[in-house]
Parts: sequence; C-alpha cells; structure tokens
Amino acid sequence: MTYIINMQGVGRTFPGSVPVHALKDVNFMVSSGEYVTVVGPSGSGKSTFLNLIGLLDTPSVGTYLIDGIDPSTMGEKQRSALRGTRIGFVFQSFHLIGHQSAIANTQLGMVYNGVPRKQRITRARDSLARVGLSHREEAVAQTLSGGERQRVAIARALAGRPSLLLCDEPTGNLDSNNANSILALLDELHADDITLIVVTHDSEVAARGQRIVTVKDGHLSEKSQ
Ligand SMILES: Nc1ncnc2c1ncn2[C@@H]1O[C@H](COP(=O)(O)OP(=O)(O)O)[C@@H](O)[C@H]1O
Ligand SMILES: [Mg+2]
Repeated sequence: MTYIINMQGVGRTFPGSVPVHALKDVNFMVSSGEYVTVVGPSGSGKSTFLNLIGLLDTPSVGTYLIDGIDPSTMGEKQRSALRGTRIGFVFQSFHLIGHQSAIANTQLGMVYNGVPRKQRITRARDSLARVGLSHREEAVAQTLSGGERQRVAIARALAGRPSLLLCDEPTGNLDSNNANSILALLDELHADDITLIVVTHDSEVAARGQRIVTVKDGHLSEKSQ
C-alpha cells in the first residue's frame, strides 16, 4: 500500500546569521482516510511541518513522497499542479477576499488551476452546499460571521477535490460555538474519506483526531494508540 504522506528523515532549517532548526529528523507516514491532529506550543514547528506536507515549502534534508510521488524532482509548475489537484488548505485567518461573494471566493483555487468556468461554478455550488452555505452563495465575504467565513474557506479547499485537507489552526479565530460546528464539519469530511491533517495548539481540538502527533522544538512524537 502506498502512503498518502511518507516523510523519512525530514528536516527544515531556515538559514540566517543564527539558523533556525524548525523541524528535525521527522519520520511520518499517513494512510488514506486517516484523521491526524498535530499539537504543540507556539513556535514548535507545526506550520513549518504543514507547509512541507502541503508542498508550500521543501525539506532541507530527508525525503518526502506524496502518494508515492517525489515532488523534489519536479519544477515549480508541476509541483503547483500536484498541490492544486491533491491538496486543500484551510488557515486560521480564512484568507478570503473580503469584498467578493462566497461563491467567487470558493472558485479562487480553481481559477489558478485552470478549471473551466462552468465546471468551476458547479463545483463551487456543490462545495458550498457541502458546508451548509447554499443560502449564502451571493453574500459578500466580509459580511459573513467568522464561522461562515471558515466554511467558505473549507468549501474553497474542497472545490479542488483534494484527497488531503490540511488545516492550520482552523478554529483559532472562532468562538466556541463556531469552533464546534467547524470541528463537526471536519468529522463529516473524515467520514467521507478525506484525509485530514489538523494543526492546533488546543488539546481539545487535538483530541478529535484518530492519531495525535505532538511537535516540540521541531521534534515529532506520537503515542501509539
Ligand atoms: N520563514 C522563516 N524564516 C525563519 N524562521 C522561521 C520561518 N518560519 C518559521 N520560522 C521559525 O521556525 C520555528 C517554527 O515556526 P512555526 O512552524 O511557524 O511554529 P508553529 O506553527 O508551531 O507556531 C519558529 O522558531 C519560527 O520563528
Ligand atoms: Mg503556526
């Protein structure tokens, strides 16, 4: 069986007068359909780890295969095509275009990936329905509540039909009611066989995962279940 994520001996050092060893000797394998949470204090290396998984950054050492494919041998164009077809991102601060509608925001990733307009609209509608926002398609993003904005961001990530959804502190800017409804939505996506990696500094959010990985000073550890 091929792992969707297979990291061996991966490290990431940010160069500078005092280099930062943000991630050290990471061995990490994820099978399709797993729900993994990554927990650790601020500055421990969680976002660095997620950015490597999501092909937004490259390891300084070690090997990383995604679905058995080695992105290090690819040019940036190929890597971004790989990213666009397999990976969805959700961030703490939503990253929406405030003055555009929910449905326009949902199409953004697909615009970059060259999905034809008609197909984009169909997929955006389906994705907004998936996150329970069909009634808000035309609403301007900045008029939506925090929870609704995060739903739009999740719809945008899903519209690319990713097999892997990466979330960096997805509930970090939400009150507890909205946070709980986003976590419930992530549970549903997991039940639909999407592979989930959720980064958090919150142990309650971390407890939602099937596997809980801890990052401390750039080192990954995992208690066996
Ligand atoms: N682009 C960068 N250049 C230099 N240092 C960085 C960069 N990105 C992150 N770091 C450093 O790497 C460490 C881990 O950061 P990060 O992965 O963002 O942690 P977390 O997401 O757990 O808060 C921190 O010490 C941070 O300052
Ligand atoms: Mg972070």
